[in-house]
Amino acid sequence: MGEKMRLDRLVASQLYGVSRADVKKLCLKKKISVNGRLIARSDIKVDTDDEIYADGKRIVYKKYIYIMLNKPQGFVCSTKDGQSRTVLELVPPELMRSGLFPAGRLDKDTEGFVLLTDDGELSHSMLSPKSHVPKTYFVRLEKPWQEGYKRIMAEGMTISGDNGKEKCLPAEFTGSAEDPCECTLVLHEGKFHQVKRMFGELGNKVIFLRRTAIGDLPLDEDLAPGECLEIMHKDVESLLTRKSF
Ligand code: URA
Repeated sequence: MGEKMRLDRLVASQLYGVSRADVKKLCLKKKISVNGRLIARSDIKVDTDDEIYADGKRIVYKKYIYIMLNKPQGFVCSTKDGQSRTVLELVPPELMRSGLFPAGRLDKDTEGFVLLTDDGELSHSMLSPKSHVPKTYFVRLEKPWQEGYKRIMAEGMTISGDNGKEKCLPAEFTGSAEDPCECTLVLHEGKFHQVKRMFGELGNKVIFLRRTAIGDLPLDEDLAPGECLEIMHKDVESLLTRKSF
Protein backbone atom coordinates (compact mmCIF):
# COMPACT_ATOMS: atom_id res chain seq x y z
CA MET A 1 0.00 0.00 0.00
CA GLY A 2 1.21 3.44 -0.86
CA GLU A 3 -0.07 6.79 0.31
CA LYS A 4 -3.62 8.12 -0.17
CA MET A 5 -3.81 11.19 -2.39
CA ARG A 6 -6.29 13.08 -4.54
CA LEU A 7 -6.19 11.89 -8.14
CA ASP A 8 -5.75 15.40 -9.60
CA ARG A 9 -2.88 16.20 -7.24
CA LEU A 10 -1.14 12.89 -7.93
CA VAL A 11 -1.35 13.14 -11.72
CA ALA A 12 -0.43 16.85 -11.85
CA SER A 13 2.60 16.24 -9.58
CA GLN A 14 4.00 13.64 -11.97
CA LEU A 15 3.46 15.39 -15.31
CA TYR A 16 5.29 18.64 -16.01
CA GLY A 17 3.03 21.42 -17.28
CA VAL A 18 -0.18 19.53 -16.37
CA SER A 19 -2.36 21.35 -13.82
CA ARG A 20 -5.10 19.95 -11.60
CA ALA A 21 -7.62 21.70 -13.89
CA ASP A 22 -6.09 19.82 -16.84
CA VAL A 23 -6.55 16.54 -14.93
CA LYS A 24 -10.22 17.42 -14.37
CA LYS A 25 -10.65 17.97 -18.11
CA LEU A 26 -8.95 14.66 -18.88
CA CYS A 27 -11.37 12.91 -16.50
CA LEU A 28 -14.37 14.51 -18.24
CA LYS A 29 -12.98 13.30 -21.58
CA LYS A 30 -12.74 9.76 -20.09
CA LYS A 31 -8.99 9.74 -20.48
CA ILE A 32 -8.04 8.72 -16.96
CA SER A 33 -8.29 5.21 -15.54
CA VAL A 34 -7.47 3.80 -12.14
CA ASN A 35 -6.99 0.04 -11.79
CA GLY A 36 -8.69 -0.50 -15.14
CA ARG A 37 -11.78 1.69 -14.48
CA LEU A 38 -12.44 5.00 -16.19
CA ILE A 39 -12.75 7.78 -13.63
CA ALA A 40 -15.09 10.73 -14.17
CA ARG A 41 -14.16 12.78 -11.08
CA SER A 42 -10.66 14.10 -10.48
CA ASP A 43 -11.20 14.79 -6.76
CA ILE A 44 -11.41 11.14 -5.66
CA LYS A 45 -8.76 9.69 -3.37
CA VAL A 46 -6.48 7.09 -4.87
CA ASP A 47 -3.52 5.11 -3.63
CA THR A 48 -0.08 6.03 -4.96
CA ASP A 49 0.39 2.32 -5.78
CA ASP A 50 -2.77 2.20 -7.95
CA GLU A 51 -2.37 1.51 -11.65
CA ILE A 52 -3.14 4.90 -13.14
CA TYR A 53 -3.23 5.85 -16.82
CA ALA A 54 -3.60 9.44 -18.01
CA ASP A 55 -4.14 10.04 -21.72
CA GLY A 56 -2.69 6.61 -22.49
CA LYS A 57 0.40 7.11 -20.34
CA ARG A 58 1.09 4.97 -17.25
CA ILE A 59 1.71 7.16 -14.22
CA VAL A 60 4.12 5.49 -11.83
CA TYR A 61 4.09 7.70 -8.76
CA LYS A 62 7.41 8.88 -7.40
CA LYS A 63 7.48 11.28 -4.49
CA TYR A 64 10.77 12.77 -5.64
CA ILE A 65 12.96 12.52 -8.66
CA TYR A 66 16.79 12.29 -8.73
CA ILE A 67 18.66 12.98 -11.94
CA MET A 68 22.34 12.59 -12.73
CA LEU A 69 23.29 15.24 -15.28
CA ASN A 70 26.60 15.38 -17.11
CA LYS A 71 26.78 19.16 -17.27
CA PRO A 72 28.52 20.54 -20.34
CA GLN A 73 30.46 23.82 -20.28
CA GLY A 74 28.42 26.95 -20.94
CA PHE A 75 25.46 26.14 -18.65
CA VAL A 76 24.83 27.64 -15.22
CA CYS A 77 23.64 25.70 -12.18
CA SER A 78 20.55 27.72 -11.36
CA THR A 79 16.87 27.53 -12.17
CA LYS A 80 16.72 30.96 -13.86
CA ASP A 81 19.30 33.15 -15.48
CA GLY A 82 18.76 36.17 -17.65
CA GLN A 83 21.85 35.68 -19.80
CA SER A 84 23.00 32.08 -19.75
CA ARG A 85 21.37 28.76 -20.43
CA THR A 86 20.58 26.83 -17.25
CA VAL A 87 21.05 23.14 -16.47
CA LEU A 88 17.25 22.76 -16.34
CA GLU A 89 17.14 23.36 -20.08
CA LEU A 90 18.97 20.04 -20.48
CA VAL A 91 16.30 17.97 -18.74
CA PRO A 92 14.20 15.92 -21.19
CA PRO A 93 10.41 16.46 -20.93
CA GLU A 94 9.76 12.99 -19.47
CA LEU A 95 12.02 13.74 -16.46
CA MET A 96 10.99 17.37 -16.02
CA ARG A 97 9.03 18.35 -12.90
CA SER A 98 8.10 21.61 -11.30
CA GLY A 99 10.31 22.24 -8.29
CA LEU A 100 13.38 20.61 -9.85
CA PHE A 101 16.67 22.33 -9.00
CA PRO A 102 20.42 21.60 -9.00
CA ALA A 103 21.62 20.32 -5.60
CA GLY A 104 24.96 22.12 -5.60
CA ARG A 105 26.78 24.21 -8.14
CA LEU A 106 29.51 23.84 -10.70
CA ASP A 107 31.01 26.86 -12.44
CA LYS A 108 29.76 27.73 -15.92
CA ASP A 109 33.01 26.41 -17.45
CA THR A 110 33.11 23.22 -15.31
CA GLU A 111 31.76 19.95 -16.68
CA GLY A 112 30.47 16.85 -14.97
CA PHE A 113 28.15 15.42 -12.37
CA VAL A 114 25.33 17.65 -11.14
CA LEU A 115 22.47 16.14 -9.14
CA LEU A 116 19.05 17.55 -10.02
CA THR A 117 16.18 16.85 -7.66
CA ASP A 118 12.95 18.17 -6.17
CA ASP A 119 13.83 16.63 -2.78
CA GLY A 120 14.66 19.66 -0.66
CA GLU A 121 15.47 17.64 2.44
CA LEU A 122 18.04 15.45 0.72
CA SER A 123 19.60 18.45 -0.98
CA HIS A 124 19.81 20.31 2.31
CA SER A 125 21.50 17.46 4.13
CA MET A 126 23.92 16.98 1.23
CA LEU A 127 24.86 20.64 1.01
CA SER A 128 24.91 21.56 4.69
CA PRO A 129 28.40 22.58 5.86
CA LYS A 130 28.31 19.78 8.42
CA SER A 131 27.90 17.11 5.78
CA HIS A 132 31.23 16.38 4.19
CA VAL A 133 30.06 14.42 1.17
CA PRO A 134 33.22 13.89 -0.90
CA LYS A 135 33.25 15.33 -4.40
CA THR A 136 35.83 14.05 -6.88
CA TYR A 137 37.26 16.25 -9.63
CA PHE A 138 39.38 15.48 -12.65
CA VAL A 139 41.68 18.44 -13.21
CA ARG A 140 43.91 19.51 -16.10
CA LEU A 141 46.52 22.07 -15.10
CA GLU A 142 48.43 24.65 -17.10
CA LYS A 143 51.76 23.52 -15.64
CA PRO A 144 52.85 20.08 -14.34
CA TRP A 145 51.76 19.22 -10.81
CA GLN A 146 54.42 18.96 -8.12
CA GLU A 147 55.16 16.28 -5.54
CA GLY A 148 54.47 18.74 -2.70
CA TYR A 149 50.80 19.23 -3.69
CA LYS A 150 49.70 16.02 -1.98
CA ARG A 151 51.00 16.96 1.45
CA ILE A 152 49.97 20.63 1.25
CA MET A 153 46.41 19.71 0.28
CA ALA A 154 46.18 16.89 2.84
CA GLU A 155 47.11 19.36 5.59
CA GLY A 156 44.25 21.70 4.67
CA MET A 157 45.22 24.71 2.59
CA THR A 158 44.48 28.34 3.31
CA ILE A 159 43.17 30.10 0.23
CA SER A 160 42.52 33.77 -0.37
CA GLY A 161 39.56 35.36 -2.03
CA ASP A 162 37.11 38.24 -1.75
CA ASN A 163 36.28 37.17 1.81
CA GLY A 164 39.93 37.26 2.91
CA LYS A 165 41.68 34.06 3.90
CA GLU A 166 39.75 30.81 4.15
CA LYS A 167 40.92 27.56 5.68
CA CYS A 168 40.07 24.45 3.69
CA LEU A 169 39.44 20.97 5.01
CA PRO A 170 42.03 18.33 4.13
CA ALA A 171 41.71 17.25 0.49
CA GLU A 172 43.09 14.25 -1.35
CA PHE A 173 45.34 15.00 -4.31
CA THR A 174 46.48 12.27 -6.72
CA GLY A 175 48.75 13.16 -9.63
CA SER A 176 48.31 11.22 -12.86
CA ALA A 177 51.11 8.79 -13.69
CA GLU A 178 50.44 9.24 -17.42
CA ASP A 179 50.13 12.99 -17.82
CA PRO A 180 52.16 15.48 -15.74
CA CYS A 181 49.42 18.11 -16.06
CA GLU A 182 46.51 15.88 -15.01
CA CYS A 183 45.35 14.99 -11.53
CA THR A 184 42.41 14.08 -9.32
CA LEU A 185 41.24 16.01 -6.30
CA VAL A 186 38.70 14.93 -3.68
CA LEU A 187 37.12 17.73 -1.65
CA HIS A 188 34.86 17.41 1.39
CA GLU A 189 33.26 20.82 1.13
CA GLY A 190 32.32 23.26 -1.60
CA LYS A 191 33.79 26.74 -1.26
CA PHE A 192 33.33 29.16 -4.15
CA HIS A 193 35.70 28.26 -7.04
CA GLN A 194 37.53 26.05 -4.56
CA VAL A 195 39.51 23.81 -6.91
CA LYS A 196 40.62 26.75 -9.04
CA ARG A 197 41.60 28.77 -5.98
CA MET A 198 43.55 25.91 -4.39
CA PHE A 199 45.72 25.40 -7.48
CA GLY A 200 45.94 29.17 -7.97
CA GLU A 201 47.39 29.46 -4.46
CA LEU A 202 50.12 27.01 -5.53
CA GLY A 203 51.01 29.13 -8.57
CA ASN A 204 49.28 26.86 -11.05
CA LYS A 205 46.09 27.25 -13.09
CA VAL A 206 43.13 24.94 -13.76
CA ILE A 207 42.48 24.82 -17.48
CA PHE A 208 39.85 22.06 -17.43
CA LEU A 209 37.64 20.78 -14.63
CA ARG A 210 35.16 17.92 -14.47
CA ARG A 211 33.34 16.55 -11.43
CA THR A 212 33.50 12.79 -11.75
CA ALA A 213 31.79 11.59 -8.55
CA ILE A 214 29.61 12.71 -5.66
CA GLY A 215 30.02 10.53 -2.59
CA ASP A 216 30.33 6.93 -3.74
CA LEU A 217 28.40 7.56 -6.91
CA PRO A 218 30.54 8.00 -10.03
CA LEU A 219 29.34 9.92 -13.06
CA ASP A 220 28.07 7.30 -15.52
CA GLU A 221 30.76 6.89 -18.18
CA ASP A 222 28.16 6.38 -20.91
CA LEU A 223 26.47 9.68 -20.17
CA ALA A 224 27.54 12.21 -22.82
CA PRO A 225 27.82 15.90 -21.84
CA GLY A 226 24.30 17.34 -21.77
CA GLU A 227 22.64 13.98 -21.04
CA CYS A 228 20.52 13.07 -18.01
CA LEU A 229 19.94 9.76 -16.26
CA GLU A 230 17.30 9.11 -13.62
CA ILE A 231 18.84 7.54 -10.54
CA MET A 232 17.07 5.54 -7.87
CA HIS A 233 16.69 6.57 -4.28
CA LYS A 234 18.91 3.79 -2.95
CA ASP A 235 21.77 5.16 -5.07
CA VAL A 236 21.11 8.66 -3.82
CA GLU A 237 21.50 7.48 -0.22
CA SER A 238 25.07 6.48 -1.03
CA LEU A 239 25.70 10.06 -2.09
CA LEU A 240 25.32 10.99 1.50
CA THR A 241 28.27 9.08 2.87
CA ARG A 242 29.97 11.35 5.31
CA LYS A 243 33.49 11.74 6.53
CA SER A 244 34.20 13.29 9.91
CA PHE A 245 37.03 15.67 10.59
N1 URA B 1 35.79 24.10 -7.83
C1 URA B 1 35.84 25.05 -8.78
O1 URA B 1 36.76 25.84 -8.82
N2 URA B 1 34.84 25.10 -9.67
C2 URA B 1 33.80 24.22 -9.69
O2 URA B 1 32.93 24.30 -10.57
C3 URA B 1 33.78 23.22 -8.69
C4 URA B 1 34.77 23.19 -7.77
